[in-house]
Amino acid sequence: MAEIRLDKFLANRSSYSRNEVKNLLRKGAVRVDAVTECDGSRKIDPDSQIVTCLGKQIQSGSHVYLILNKPVGYLCATEDRSHRTVLDLIPESLRIKGLFPAGRLDLDSTGLVLLTDDGQLAHEMLAPKKHVPKYYLVRLRDPIRDQDIQALSKGIVLSDQTHCLPAQAQAFPDSYVLICLHEGKYHQVKRMFASLGNHVESLHRVAIGGLILPENLRSGAYLEILHKDLAVMLKAQSFQVICEQILKNFSSYSINASP
Ligand code: URA
Repeated sequence: MAEIRLDKFLANRSSYSRNEVKNLLRKGAVRVDAVTECDGSRKIDPDSQIVTCLGKQIQSGSHVYLILNKPVGYLCATEDRSHRTVLDLIPESLRIKGLFPAGRLDLDSTGLVLLTDDGQLAHEMLAPKKHVPKYYLVRLRDPIRDQDIQALSKGIVLSDQTHCLPAQAQAFPDSYVLICLHEGKYHQVKRMFASLGNHVESLHRVAIGGLILPENLRSGAYLEILHKDLAVMLKAQSFQVICEQILKNFSSYSINASP
């Protein structure tokens, strides 16, 4: 990675604003290779030097990865004329060039969205051929029936004759269902349940691969993660493992899923 000003690196790679970075530098809270550095204009090489702030190492990776708990009313886009976008939930210091939501949730859907500037990773997650599983905790108008779970597991056909890949589903309390899809067609979950004669009241994405939305991440909040952790998290888990995790924290997830 090319050399970069220390203050810029800190503002880009942490949740501190530029002013906070200035103060932290002034207070002597920043170290470069274990030596206190107060001069924000100093150039550093993030690949070979270790920068800490208040004792915590600042991620030096060349990409940013943020897990967001998307609320209702935010568009999964980088800009829009009439709606707020998910980028509006991210502080300016982290809104680095090229940051975008990897994958979409509808305006009225909530839950896990990964924001990154890493196009390669987004491709790995989203390319239809990769079939990375996505899990949605869905509140239905009517409780799901056993025959619906069976039909979903065989792959249903939507009203416009679109064929869906087999999907796993499990009934949860209070007319909730956890459904796992291996593809991402337009409004897919809503259209699948519509074709089964039901209606989606709310939809909350809770996991992508083995990456589970932390149950204590409140609506609208985000978390920065390291690439090495993300790679582990994205490794697919079995449907049963994800079901157990979501069921264990069902009350937290269902509160988030009912905007
Ligand atoms: N399926 C839908 O219908 N909506 C979403 O937001 C995601 C999946």
